[in-house]
Amino acid sequence: MSMQKADIPESILQLAEKNGQLQVFRFWNELNELSRADLVKQFESIDFDMIKEAMEQTNLASGSLISPLKTMTLAQQEERKAAFQTEGNHLIREGKVAALVLAGGQGSRLGFNGPKGTLNVGITRELYLFEILLNNMLANIRAAAAETNQEMKYLHFCVMTSDQNHEQTVSFFEDHHFFGYPEKYIHFFKQDQAPALSHSGEILLDEKDRISLAPNGNGGWFRSMMRCGLWDLLKKDGVEWINVVSVDNVLQNIADPVFLGAASLAGVPAAAKVIAKVSPDERVGAICYRNGRPSVVEYSELTDEMRLATDEKGQYLYHFGVTLNYLFKMTETEKAAGTSLPIHKANKKIKCLTEAGEPFVPEEPNAYKLEYFIFDILEAFDEVLSMECLREDEFAPIKNKAGVDSLQTARDLLVKKTGITL
Ligand code: UD1
Repeated sequence: MSMQKADIPESILQLAEKNGQLQVFRFWNELNELSRADLVKQFESIDFDMIKEAMEQTNLASGSLISPLKTMTLAQQEERKAAFQTEGNHLIREGKVAALVLAGGQGSRLGFNGPKGTLNVGITRELYLFEILLNNMLANIRAAAAETNQEMKYLHFCVMTSDQNHEQTVSFFEDHHFFGYPEKYIHFFKQDQAPALSHSGEILLDEKDRISLAPNGNGGWFRSMMRCGLWDLLKKDGVEWINVVSVDNVLQNIADPVFLGAASLAGVPAAAKVIAKVSPDERVGAICYRNGRPSVVEYSELTDEMRLATDEKGQYLYHFGVTLNYLFKMTETEKAAGTSLPIHKANKKIKCLTEAGEPFVPEEPNAYKLEYFIFDILEAFDEVLSMECLREDEFAPIKNKAGVDSLQTARDLLVKKTGITL
């Protein structure tokens, strides 16, 4: 490649050569000082081990031994529900649980221009996704306090953002006065990013001085949370459990006492909420064992064989899908934090620069996006509680512009469950 290599800092040049990524500096000669420094900074932040591992990895689901993991069904919960609730409410009153909303994603399927949590779900009034999530948690806090006529103890509400939406998310909360929630209990932190790769593993450029970077999936939440000091802050305040949820579900039940109580009484390090899938094709991750460890196989990686597998009674073996509402015990998560997580490589259409420096808008998938997934940490635990919840009560995600799992379906389900006017 023709370039005046001498201008590139020696250590960077070596790093680029060693990792076969010299093309990142293809337009070096056209860049001014500022852009050069910026590009070097981006390059230095890259996790080259992640790239190497991703390129060496094959399909994650194939080659693993997958087997069913038993779910505690709604019927099985009935008898112990009161006991779970009592335990959960006690933990809530003691402030032993904190919420974490994963909001670093790009929401590309929805096509909404802005952080997903800032989407207005209201029709005749403003009612934002973030606000709904806060309200859902508040309802559980209030009920727990009311049970013993105690004053309400606010729970910490953490939001994971990304470089792409951090400032916008924080200002949104500020502009809305944190929806009346005490500001000191609301925390924001950024997740890491990963570069887009060509099919042969080359880092792609967005601009001549911009590496194509995207959030690196929702699986690095605990590392980012530990690194920024939030983990310690929560621990010092007596928090023992983190309830990690997605940003996109208007019926997301946050700090649910029954779920919390069940996990606590079972003595498990982690728990996952699941729903009975409407069909084997529903786009939710399937809870299972992978090589004997609790795990989830993401819908995008499910093989037909697994999707359609049935038991001797004809029931689907992988009938339960995760709603992205997990409980993690902090002490156990800390022990598992060093575990290396698999990298999920998604083949996507990613806009980038050609070798000639022209913008290229692909019509076919041209690049890999690298992501860590939240549920892969479950494999570090010996036991995980899978707990069924009722779809009508707890699952109304907004994923698509129209049709299934859209703003329209979420609104309908929210009104149906709560009777509120939107
Ligand atoms: C996700 C789950 C899937 C589950 C389904 C339920 C994962 C990997 N997938 O699928 O198992 O059945 O929800 O609705 O957990 N996010 C980040 N940073 C990122 C990427 C995503 O914070 O880099 C957040 C998103 O903002 C969102 C959540 O993670 O809150 C889920 O991400 P998304 O990519 O929308 O996952 P789904 O495909 O919907």
